[in-house]
Amino acid sequence: MSERITIAIDGFSSTGKSTVAKQLAKALEYIYVDSGAMYRAVTLFAMQKGLISNDGFDKENLLTYLNDITISFEYNPVKGFAEVYLNGINVEADIRTLEVSNFVSLIAEVSEVRKKLVEQQQQFGKNKGVVMDGRDIGTVVFPDAELKIFMTASAETRAQRRYEELKAKGEIASFSSVLENIQERDFIDTNRDDSPLVQADDAILFDNSSLSIKQQFEALLHLASEVISRTS
Ligand code: DC
Repeated sequence: MSERITIAIDGFSSTGKSTVAKQLAKALEYIYVDSGAMYRAVTLFAMQKGLISNDGFDKENLLTYLNDITISFEYNPVKGFAEVYLNGINVEADIRTLEVSNFVSLIAEVSEVRKKLVEQQQQFGKNKGVVMDGRDIGTVVFPDAELKIFMTASAETRAQRRYEELKAKGEIASFSSVLENIQERDFIDTNRDDSPLVQADDAILFDNSSLSIKQQFEALLHLASEVISRTS
C-alpha cells in the first residue's frame, strides 16, 4: 500500500484552493480540512454574540469565550465533503456570507484564536492522509508536509469567481464590493504579525488564472501521485 502524505494548500482568497483540495482528498481517499471554515466559524460566533460588527470588535471579550467555541466537521455524503459545525450546529452556509468575509480577517489576526485552531488542525492531520487548505498550512500547521502548493491568480479573476458564486446563491453584491473585499483580505492576510500568508520555501507556486477546474485538478493530482510514489 502506498504511503499516505500530508498535502498543504495555501494561497490568496478565492484562488480555488478548497475546490481542488476537496477533489484531491476524494481521489486519494484522504480527509479534507477547510481551515478557513474554522476561522469563519469563530467569526460567526463573534457576530452572534454581538462582539464584532461595523461598530467595532471587542477582542478581549471574545477571548473570554474561547473555551465555549467548539468546531467540528461532519462528512455529508450527499455533498461529498465534511461540513463545518459550530457548537453542534451546521453552519456551512452561514459562514459563507459576505458579512462573515468582511470580518474574518480581524478574527484571524488574533493569536489566541490562531493557537487554538492550529492545535486542532494538527490533530486532524496527525495520521497523515490529509489535504488541508488555508494560509499558514505549509508554514505553521504542517511545516513538514510532503507536498506544499501555493495557489495564486489575479485579484480580478478571483473576484469574478467569488462574484459568480455569491450570485448563484442569490446573495446581492456588486462586483466592485467583492473585488474590494478580496484586495482588503489579501492585504490583511499578508501583513498581519502572526502567521502572515507567505509562500513556504519548499512550496510549489501554482498560478491557475488560465486553468479550468479540471486542468487544475489533473495537474495537482499528477504532482501528488509523484510525491506519493517517491515517498512510498
Ligand atoms: O479560505 P477562506 O477565505 O475561507 O478563509 C477565511 C479567512 O480566514 C481568510 O481571510 C484568512 C483566514 N485564514 C487564516 O488566517 N488562516 C488559515 N489557515 C485559513 C484562513
